[in-house]
Parts: sequence; structure tokens; C-alpha cells
Amino acid sequence: MIVPARHLHGHGLPPSDHTTMLADVREGLQRTPKRLSSKYFYDAEGSALFEAICAQPEYYLTGAELAIMREHAADVAAVLGPSVLLIEYGSGSGLKTQLLLAQLATPAAYVPIEISPAALQESIARLGGTFPHVEMLPLCADFTQRITPPRSAMQPLRRVIYFPGSTLGNFEAHEALALLSKMRDEMGEQGAALIGIDLKKDSAIIEAAYNDAAGVTAAFTLNMLARFNRELGADFDLAQFNHRARYNGMAGRIETHIVSRRAQTVKIADRSFNFAADEAMLVEYSCKYSLDDFARLAARAGLRVKNIWMDAKQQFSLQYLERAEALDG
Ligand code: AVJ
Repeated sequence: MIVPARHLHGHGLPPSDHTTMLADVREGLQRTPKRLSSKYFYDAEGSALFEAICAQPEYYLTGAELAIMREHAADVAAVLGPSVLLIEYGSGSGLKTQLLLAQLATPAAYVPIEISPAALQESIARLGGTFPHVEMLPLCADFTQRITPPRSAMQPLRRVIYFPGSTLGNFEAHEALALLSKMRDEMGEQGAALIGIDLKKDSAIIEAAYNDAAGVTAAFTLNMLARFNRELGADFDLAQFNHRARYNGMAGRIETHIVSRRAQTVKIADRSFNFAADEAMLVEYSCKYSLDDFARLAARAGLRVKNIWMDAKQQFSLQYLERAEALDG
């Protein structure tokens, strides 16, 4: 079964404006249980805190994915082939992309798709300086929405969608399926996808990654409330809420909640919201996959996993996928 991309919605989408954010927050706080979208983590402060998370010793994901790139970028580039139009979902810090671009044979162009104009600008400035001969075609857009790949000066042999960081894990199964289907549509007949996927492992290791000793992840989580105070004029008292991240083994995912330390009322614009003591609001899922789990999900989206690269401890994977039909026979 192939799920059409139009089923993508809600959780995981980047913010558009304050009116939408206010409406989303109100809607989420009226639900039982309360829920807020993880897309609201990433204001300037939140993005800086996320970069700090990546440098924490417990957050193995970044180091493992970088190790994979350092070790295997030449092999990955050989599989992708020459004259690729490289489309990246999100523009991130650019280091993984830099390692990949350095190995690609005559890439036709690099197309980062990023909702934040500042982040887009920064990554293009950095990569453009390092790779002056690669055409840079930045797209300021939401990568969960349908995009038309731009035309490059050099005729590409194929399109490859690069989606690192295990960001796919922030989407629930049905949303991840819709996003993979959208990628399949966008890559075209000869296209491919290159996706970073965090793997199932000892739950203590996973839980530690989302509960670093320095408290950076807790600050990152609670920054969402600080952001609502700054941008929506809410009056969340950050000292009265806790970060909680637990691994749900049945669902195979980290579930991050913001927990109210006591019974309290918060005002947002003209409305009040009550929190009971210990009431938990869901703010993020980070799904973990086994190799089989992900192959099955990809197959449901009409994609086939062709290559898998892992770090030495097999904590993280970089997976290369093509359209399933093109591979039969
Ligand atoms: C980059 C979005 C994949 O889920 O691991 C890190 C975000 N949240 N620590 C992840 C995150 C808490 C991260 N993603």
C-alpha cells in the first residue's frame, strides 16, 4: 500500500506565524491529554540548545552519524553516482552534508529545504564557500509540504533526497509513512533517498541521550514554554514544570513530556488553562527502529532499502533507498 502525501498533517510541521502558533497551542492545551507540537522547539534559542544537545556525551546520535560519514562518505557517494541533484530536508549544521558533498562526483546542485530563512542563509554561505563549483539552490519551505525540485544549470542524472539526523523519528508511524511516500514522489523514477535512522538498543542508553546530566535537554524542552511566554505573552513559570523523557519499549520510542509540578493556572492571551499536579503534556516522540522495522515501513511507502551503513557500535544507521518497482526483476 502506498499512502498519498496529502495525509501529512499537524505534529512535526514547522510554525508559520503567531496566529497559527496561538491557535495550535490553545487547541493542544484543550485536549486530554494535553499535547504540543515538537516543531515549536526550534526558535533561535531552541536551535542553539539543540546544537548544545548534540555536543553532550550522552547524545550518541550526532557522533555516530558523523562517524558513519567520516568512515563511509566515499562509499555512499559511489552508490549515489555522478551528477546528482542533492535535496536535503532541513539544512542542519551542514557538517554531515559537507562530508558528503566533498565525495560526490560533479554534483549538479545542492538544494537545502529549510523553513528558517536564517538557518538557510547560514548553511548556504558556509557550503557555498567550501564548494564554489556546486550550484546552490536554497528553498525556504516546509519539507513536509509538496515541493517542485528546482532546475539546475547542469542536467542532473538523478535526484537524491538526503534526510539526516533521525528527524524522521519525530513523526508518528502514519506521518513517517506519508513523508516517505512524498519523498518517493519527489525523487522521480531514477531517484533515491538517503536517510539517517536511529536504531533500537539498550533502553538505558536511549533514555540517557534524552536526559543528559548537564540538563541541556531539559532546558531545550522547557524552552518551548519560554518561547510561548516571549512570543504569545503567556505566563508559564518555568520553575513549576519538569522535563520528562522515557523510553516506551512497546512503541519503540522516546516520549518526552512537560510535567506540571503542582496544580496551577497559566494565561495565554485572554485564556486560562488549568494544570493538575503531575499532569503531563506530550511534546515529542523520537521513534527508534530495528533494521527490519524500517525496511517494512519503507516497503509500505513503495521504497526498498538497498544499502545500510552503521557506526562501529551499530547504534545508528544511514540507509539508502530506491523506488521498489525500479528494482524488481
Ligand atoms: C534531531 C529531532 C531527531 O529526536 O533526537 C534531541 C531532537 N530532542 N533531544 C531527536 C531532540 C531531544 C532530535 N532530532
